[in-house]
Amino acid sequence: MSVSAIAVKSETRPPVSVGPVRAEMLGLAALPSAVPVARYFARALLGSWEVDESRGWECRQVLSELVSNALEATGERGGADIETRGIAMMLLRFRLCAAHLVVEVRDDNAALPQVTPAALLDEGGRGLMLAESLASGWGTYVLGVGKVVWAAWDLVP
Ligand SMILES: Nc1ncnc2c1ncn2[C@@H]1O[C@H](COP(=O)(O)OP(=O)(O)OP(=O)(O)O)[C@@H](O)[C@H]1O
Ligand SMILES: [Mg+2]
Repeated sequence: MSVSAIAVKSETRPPVSVGPVRAEMLGLAALPSAVPVARYFARALLGSWEVDESRGWECRQVLSELVSNALEATGERGGADIETRGIAMMLLRFRLCAAHLVVEVRDDNAALPQVTPAALLDEGGRGLMLAESLASGWGTYVLGVGKVVWAAWDLVP
């Protein structure tokens, strides 16, 4: 565990510009398979929206981290017993407008993300730092149940 300062992310909404917005959602069970499925879905969707591949690559990396975090926060460790395993879900939303690409991951855990700058030997604590460096911005907002963690890319300079 790093001794660096831990900061809970304060609530913010993603940027939305006026004009047409393309939107798509994906619901995933909180299972390890959610991470690659989210990546495959994002590649197909952003490709069909003709999002630049380098931007799409960044989006997939960050999405992997957000989905991994949602999985960690809500997924049950129950092995592959279909009869007893919980069915926690997460919801993904992709939005594309003239000025922004936004990806959001909703999960049912009330805890907010904490930015924990990772020290050299820390095993974890790098996912949100990756979002910080690859996306134009990221944030979180609370819902009645759970919250959304989002990342956004500015498409115009
Ligand atoms: N969706 C979430 N729900 C609840 N807590 C979260 C969520 N996302 C992040 N956090 C909190 O923020 C911390 C930092 O997340 P981050 O992704 O940077 O690191 P990590 O998940 O601990 O490690 P790594 O991503 O490097 O494997 C997490 O340890 C967790 O406490
Ligand atoms: Mg993480």
